[in-house]
Amino acid sequence: MDGMAHSVVSRKAKRAPLSAPISINLELTSGCNIQCRHCYNFWREDPASFKDSVSMEKIDRLVAMIVASKVFHVILTGGEPLLNFPVMEYAARRLSEAGLSISTNSNLMLATPTKMERLRVAGLDHILTSLNSYDPATNDHMMNKPGALDRIKEGIRTTRAAGIRVSANMVISTPNAEHVYETARLAAALGVQKIFATRLVPSVTVEDPHGTILELDIAGARRAVEDLARAKRDFGIDVGTLISYPLCFLGDLATYADFVGRGCPAQTGNRMVLNANGDSHACTHEEENYGNVFEVGLTEAFGRMSRWHDGSYRYQGCAGCAYQEICGSGCRMAANSYYKRRDAQDPLFVGFDRIGVPYTLDIPAEIVQTVDRKAQVVVPPRIRFRQEDGYCLLNVRWANAFAVPTELAVFLREQQAAGTPFDMDDLPGLEGRRHLLYLLFKDAVEPVDDAVRTLLLERPRMGASVNPFDLPDSALRV
Ligand SMILES: C[S@@+](CC[C@H](N)C(=O)[O-])C[C@H]1O[C@@H](n2cnc3c(N)ncnc32)[C@H](O)[C@@H]1O
Ligand code: SF4
Ligand code: SF4
Repeated sequence: MDGMAHSVVSRKAKRAPLSAPISINLELTSGCNIQCRHCYNFWREDPASFKDSVSMEKIDRLVAMIVASKVFHVILTGGEPLLNFPVMEYAARRLSEAGLSISTNSNLMLATPTKMERLRVAGLDHILTSLNSYDPATNDHMMNKPGALDRIKEGIRTTRAAGIRVSANMVISTPNAEHVYETARLAAALGVQKIFATRLVPSVTVEDPHGTILELDIAGARRAVEDLARAKRDFGIDVGTLISYPLCFLGDLATYADFVGRGCPAQTGNRMVLNANGDSHACTHEEENYGNVFEVGLTEAFGRMSRWHDGSYRYQGCAGCAYQEICGSGCRMAANSYYKRRDAQDPLFVGFDRIGVPYTLDIPAEIVQTVDRKAQVVVPPRIRFRQEDGYCLLNVRWANAFAVPTELAVFLREQQAAGTPFDMDDLPGLEGRRHLLYLLFKDAVEPVDDAVRTLLLERPRMGASVNPFDLPDSALRV
């Protein structure tokens, strides 16, 4: 690999692990109205656990734990959360009232105007739905239910009519690897704001995915990401993936900047998963249980996931790769599905010598001009902070949080509390200009001037999930 790529991405300093996750996937029920052939929910094989549902009393206990550990975001999921609607509505309201942001994963097949309206009133403003293909035969085969595509389309319309934003998730494997472009076209026509082409990670119950419809080989994955990048250009829809592709598989990190930076949320500690019975996991795809949070508490269960957080599951063939901190050796549960070890190679791994175009962060000219002409900015009320050991987390919105120096966070908190505008000269330390460029790039501060604010809001958002504070100056193009 070339020396430039090395210098571009090395993280500046190793940080202490997070004290708590940034976001929690909370499964409200293990039951589902359908049985997708690819669903990772290993517990579907166990008829007893299929009946687990969270009660309102347990929601109260969970909200108390979540607030105490300063988690920012909760994803209400399942199974199918609409099957447990009263608790879903209750959880949405309790979490919103407690100051958390929320979203939901749902196949939307059970959506009704009344339910969606009630969820919006309870504080829900975004739903991620499953949409596996524009082609009814393929979609309905994958989701194991005739008529599923029509019901999802209806569910998307109903949800949007209630004023809730919708994104769509395709789980990519052999049957639909060539359907990404047309499915993105359908999603855009339905008013879906973002489409994810997420690689299928076979459930831990699958012995060998090779040669099955659950397989996603390198050629299929390549076609999927190429078509997604094309769909973004042609239909103007936002794109991404919920499960990272190894950066060496992407190869050209400029063209695929939308896929850089997601990393592995289980290894970064950004994510924790709670089953409907309270069992905890680092990854949605993982069977291992780190303790029932109703017995051991949320912080203790999270602490027991340290092998995920300390790099133990990295693949040894990644040694020497400058992108390791961002990539995390790709998906560790995909490695486990194919090679039965969490520290095995990602099935899409091709080696870091195949990274042809390195990652660089392009700070748009509008932002540079805003900073350099010393336009006044403010810290909006939506910005949340959490002090960690030696650094501070800054949450922009939803689960989008990144680490900043404590000194900077203290300053930003004070300005937020006082509502005081400032410019680059007011920032603490010697790097005021660079820090303000990053903060504007990440939407963590807003220009006071309405016209400038609108201009910045309209800019394209490539690679927005990368934390610029982790990049050396050489990665920046301003
Ligand atoms: C388990 S579902 C639960 C919520 C809801 N029932 C739904 O389908 O949206 C959450 C997300 O996981 C995705 N998913 C399920 N099985 C998967 C797998 N084996 N690999 C990758 N993603 C998967 C689904 O497509 C969905 O977007
Ligand atoms: S992916 Fe969602 S809709 Fe499909 S079986 Fe799993 S939980 Fe149900
Ligand atoms: S060599 Fe490993 S860490 Fe580097 S990009 Fe490939 S999978 Fe990721």
